[in-house]
Amino acid sequence: MKILLISASPRKEKSQTFLLAKQVVNGCEDSRTAEIIHLCEQKIDFCRHCERCHKKILACPLKDDVKRILMMMLEADGIILATPNYINQVTGATKTLFDRSSHFIHCLRLMGKYVAGVVSSGSGQDKEVLSYLKYYANTCGAYYVGGISSRAPVDEEVLSDALKLGIKLCDAIKKKKEFPSQKRQIEERKEHFRRLIQARKNEWEEEYRYWVDKGWI
Ligand SMILES: Cc1cc2nc3c(=O)[nH]c(=O)nc-3n(C[C@H](O)[C@H](O)[C@H](O)COP(=O)(O)O)c2cc1C
Repeated sequence: MKILLISASPRKEKSQTFLLAKQVVNGCEDSRTAEIIHLCEQKIDFCRHCERCHKKILACPLKDDVKRILMMMLEADGIILATPNYINQVTGATKTLFDRSSHFIHCLRLMGKYVAGVVSSGSGQDKEVLSYLKYYANTCGAYYVGGISSRAPVDEEVLSDALKLGIKLCDAIKKKKEFPSQKRQIEERKEHFRRLIQARKNEWEEEYRYWVDKGWI
């Protein structure tokens, strides 16, 4: 079972978000083999909307670390998305990474994977941020097993809940758990992209081929 933690705090190991996210990892069976990415150590440029990645899958002309991160996401069974609350949203680095993954959205590339969300903040008003992480997971086809958030400093009770979230993540992966209401939403969005991919099939050649090969079109 492959677990990937993507942590967005620039404070790395000193970060409250990371403290919480690491505890989610500790709840996972294969915690020692989990891979950890600190986004602040990565070069992540802004998407330029050239659409190259739709014509030729993941063929982005920008030379930075994004393709490697996206490949790690594709190889993972479970992804922990951890971000501090910055102005009631995910950090800019997180959003920039998401923007660069629009191929994942067009082709639901995270389908069959499971995501857990982690947020820390000064106020504890983190619902919107967690719900955005859930939205991202679902829009890429993944199931969201749940999220944990805390006002900093993180206390023992929340750390114990974070451990439980890790257990829940791995349990969902092992049992290939289904989340019926999320499944409906994923299907609705898939319908939207089916129409879009069909309409753009002459431009987004490889994404169209991906849908055909999957038997979705
Ligand atoms: C640029 C910036 C924006 C922030 N915006 C918010 C905010 O809107 N709401 C909030 O509750 N905390 C906000 N905070 C506080 C952080 O979310 C909080 O300190 C968090 O625990 C930091 O996580 P870290 O230790 O993992 O870096 C902000 C902090 C920074 C640096």
